[in-house]
Amino acid sequence: MSTPVLVVGGAGYIGAHACKALARAGFQPVVYDDLSTGHADFVKWGPLVTGDVRDREGVEKALRQWRPAAVMHFAALALVGESMRDPGRYYDVNVVGTLRLLQAMVACGVRDLVFSSSCAVYGDPGVDRISENLAERPVNPYGATKLACERMMGDFETAQRVRSVRLRYFNAAGADPGGDIGERHDPETHLVPIVIAAALDRSAVPVEIFGSDYPTPDGTAIRDYVHVCDLADAHVAAVRYLQEGGASRTVNLGTGAGASVSEVIAAVESVTGVDVPTRRSHRRAGDPPRLVADPTRAETLLGWRARSTQLRTMVEDACRWHRRAGPAMAVTGPGPRSAADADG
Ligand code: UFG
Repeated sequence: MSTPVLVVGGAGYIGAHACKALARAGFQPVVYDDLSTGHADFVKWGPLVTGDVRDREGVEKALRQWRPAAVMHFAALALVGESMRDPGRYYDVNVVGTLRLLQAMVACGVRDLVFSSSCAVYGDPGVDRISENLAERPVNPYGATKLACERMMGDFETAQRVRSVRLRYFNAAGADPGGDIGERHDPETHLVPIVIAAALDRSAVPVEIFGSDYPTPDGTAIRDYVHVCDLADAHVAAVRYLQEGGASRTVNLGTGAGASVSEVIAAVESVTGVDVPTRRSHRRAGDPPRLVADPTRAETLLGWRARSTQLRTMVEDACRWHRRAGPAMAVTGPGPRSAADADG
């Protein structure tokens, strides 16, 4: 019998890739997801329990039934712009949801947690590469909710011995190279799938470049794009680390290299051979100019380092998924949407 791991939010983009990585590593992923933005057809490597993370009783029931060795927690709202407009929803789903999950874990005696945190906790640090020692100063409610969750975990450790690895993702991108799963948000607001959709679906609507007056070499914002399968592997490494008795830690997950919005567009054009129409637009509220990880700690602590570090590889894998899944997603600008899977 393989060891169960409860994957809360396991029907979303990153959670589903983590399930595949868990299954490959010999664990049994049990997905707990309310399917508000997750997809039942992404749950392929174990059972699905349908439920809301804020429903403590529902979570406890799943924990009692499956007796997992650890919990991975991906279920969250994850859009910076949306969090600026509706912070209450973010505190409700992200902070209250994490509180209920922690309470359920304590009640059921499950004490190992791998948490989806985000580089958004750092705010706008203005440094070349961000290490975990930097002060956290979130500049948007999304980042503030992730930081509140991390702090809650610290308190639950002191009082109730819940150990956690808080994984601060930079920008997840790409898709399972086998084509089983990929990025599917509705509507889509993330740069890589938006540009790919514009190229492959031959959209006449230009891709908006949010800000071309940033203090960066080409004026567009820089992010550290990290392959979603690498992120998934880091979660497995974190579970193993906790199983071996490792202490709670906060860990950046990125490649250590940045790419600008213009470079992402150029990479998609190069992979697809299609010129993508673009339009310069205003900066998006809450967006820092540059977020690039110092991923040293992930390597020393978890033995993890991103393998697919080339933006081109991420774009190729995401294109393969897009071709397979078809042009189903609605592409929008930064307008409101509902989301329940953490994206970093
Ligand atoms: N961008 C555009 N045009 C678009 C979409 C995005 O120019 O149509 C720009 C954004 O302004 C940003 C970059 O592309 O500079 C990347 O944007 P994404 O929306 O793809 O990703 P974010 O960096 O906003 O967000 C990601 C995760 C969040 C996380 C955040 C940390 O999705 O969960 O990184 O900053 F909080």
